[in-house]
Amino acid sequence: MGDQDDAKRAAGERAIAEYLADGLRVGLGSGTTSHWFVRSLAQPVRDGLDIVGVVTSTSTLDVATEVGVRVADLNEVPELDITIDGADEIDPSGNMIKGGGAALLWEKIVATASKKMIAVVDDSKVVEKLGKFPLPIEVVPFGWRSTERHLRAVFAEFGYSDVRLEIRLKDGEYLRTDSGHYILDAYLEEIADPPALAARLNPIPGVVEHGLFIGIAAATVIGHPDGTSEIRE
Ligand code: A5P
Repeated sequence: MGDQDDAKRAAGERAIAEYLADGLRVGLGSGTTSHWFVRSLAQPVRDGLDIVGVVTSTSTLDVATEVGVRVADLNEVPELDITIDGADEIDPSGNMIKGGGAALLWEKIVATASKKMIAVVDDSKVVEKLGKFPLPIEVVPFGWRSTERHLRAVFAEFGYSDVRLEIRLKDGEYLRTDSGHYILDAYLEEIADPPALAARLNPIPGVVEHGLFIGIAAATVIGHPDGTSEIRE
């Protein structure tokens, strides 16, 4: 006890206490912190908390099903009330890098289908500048090496000459996301202007989505290893 898992659990439990209520349609994030959050829903749901979840990955669907949270297809519900999801890094403006768990595409679709998105993180995720965590970029498998060349050119414009860009592997094969795409991880160390970089990545043919979440989080719930938590808005 007293480690980052306790911090993640504290953040998830605080998010439930602060933000959930009967009747809400809730986006359920992905990754270990989000899974703590979804697991922590088991008891409130058994006690009668009436919510409908929309998942951001097949792994979260498994957890939600296991603990008895009712889930719906995003196409079958109106705008979501709230999404609670983790982050790999979050800066003082609330901009994030996400996608360490390869779920960034569904996560961005669900977050932006919601009236508000709340980030839940352990305190190790809070940074002054984004970029130490490699930036995930989801690409279409067709012609991905050409997409990679376009990415290199854009990164060079931002001063990253000869950027380290690696295709993500799983069990020795190219990882496939829940939508069947590949992930390229960009090792940038520090991103001086995240909104400007995000805007240049979006139009590259073959790029489906990237892990910069700009202006999406309305607040951050930060958990600490001693089990305390705080909210930053
Ligand atoms: C999944 O693709 C990610 O965006 C996660 O939300 C992020 O990686 C945080 O994961 P952890 O809570 O496991 O650190």
